[in-house]
Amino acid sequence: MPGINKHGLIRAALAAQKHAVAPYSRFRVGAALLTRSGTIMQGANVESASYGLTCCAERIALFKALTDGHTDFRAIAVVAPLAGGATPCGACRQLLAEYAPKALVWVADSRKPQRARSYSVKELLPISFKF
Ligand code: THU
Repeated sequence: MPGINKHGLIRAALAAQKHAVAPYSRFRVGAALLTRSGTIMQGANVESASYGLTCCAERIALFKALTDGHTDFRAIAVVAPLAGGATPCGACRQLLAEYAPKALVWVADSRKPQRARSYSVKELLPISFKF
């Protein structure tokens, strides 16, 4: 099983960030999700003129991966131009808790990507909704 290459995953998130569609906030976020088999799925935020329809980079990456048949995830890297990086929003935490509960979450400021903080999904959302 391939190991987690933190810097490689962050580089993939930085590449994904370039494809963010964020004309309203201008806040561009990139995500890269590592599957158990070593595949990396990238995502970036997509905004709508109807603001509430916006989808975060993390969810785009997760939905892409799930609908390509990936079900087992090891890590996700998230980059955004914010000091310390942007931790996933509540909605993304819920989805990560459901579909990527064991994933490590790497968060970095896209302007200083060599410094990343890591969290467990459990730490980000200790008591998620379960059905
Ligand atoms: N956003 C993400 O893509 N991921 C996060 O973790 C935080 C917020 C996006 C949503 C919106 O397009 C923009 O950042 C500002 O909230």
